[in-house]
Amino acid sequence: MTVEQAVASAAPVREEDGLILDVRELTKEFVLHNIDGRSVSGLSGVSFRLSAGEHIALAGTSGAGKSSLLRAIYRTYKPTTGNIFFTLEDGNTIDLVGLSDQEVTMLRGRQIGYVSQFLRAQPRRSALDLVTRAGVYRGMGRDEARDMAATSLRRLNIGEHLWDVHVSVLSGGEKQRVNLAAGLMSPPRLLLLDEPVSALDPENRESAIDLIAELSQSGVAVLAVFHDLDAISRLATRIIVLEKGTVTRSGPTDHILPSLTVGDVQP
Ligand SMILES: Nc1ncnc2c1ncn2[C@@H]1O[C@H](COP(=O)(O)OP(=O)(O)O)[C@@H](O)[C@H]1O
Ligand SMILES: [Mg+2]
Repeated sequence: MTVEQAVASAAPVREEDGLILDVRELTKEFVLHNIDGRSVSGLSGVSFRLSAGEHIALAGTSGAGKSSLLRAIYRTYKPTTGNIFFTLEDGNTIDLVGLSDQEVTMLRGRQIGYVSQFLRAQPRRSALDLVTRAGVYRGMGRDEARDMAATSLRRLNIGEHLWDVHVSVLSGGEKQRVNLAAGLMSPPRLLLLDEPVSALDPENRESAIDLIAELSQSGVAVLAVFHDLDAISRLATRIIVLEKGTVTRSGPTDHILPSLTVGDVQP
């Protein structure tokens, strides 16, 4: 199916509420090829909607399916059944589940971004180069991207003496901040964050949280996993709690947060 065919066959647009993502009855079964092809359930029947400027925090114990859900939406994992309707800039929707890998690649970048906990290994790149390239990839001019990369790195307390150092030799926390700076360059319309501040000390964590908060103000739809309740309470507009791949609770942050325990946000 081409992107055009997917557009034509998708659900009607609902522009009135700035809807970006409409996930319906999503399931993911993992086939364990090394154990007799047995399959295990990662997600079963997950449904929710996410609009521009909203920030949904995914909570749930370790193994609940949070990362699997982000990967299914970014299409690192191919969902087994269900739909992921994504609203394009022109207001049409497409089902990410039905797209080919090539079509998925086209949507990444300007439309959908994903920031994981770890920086992908790129041994020969400097921090400034890596972050600048992320901006160019999202359509910025090289000079503009370089200026913005410098601003982001400064805001995340990556000093200028580190800008030309190969990222492979940076500390875990520095790598994570470079990764976040790259992920936030000219942000896409939907941003998926999987524990983006997990390795940061309190001061750097504050700078990172400030930057993430600005995303919502600029209208980016954010779906994020954090392993601390403080980040969730400061950033999320809504919380979805997953257990064994199923949504067990969801609602506005001030309704759900009081019922969460530290065990609900374990990595
Ligand atoms: N690629 C995979 N192959 C097999 N099982 C997987 C795979 N990815 C995740 N799982 C399983 O799916 C379940 C959910 O995992 P995950 O989404 O990583 O949970 P969380 O991020 O909430 O800790 C776990 O039981 C995990 O072992
Ligand atoms: Mg996870």
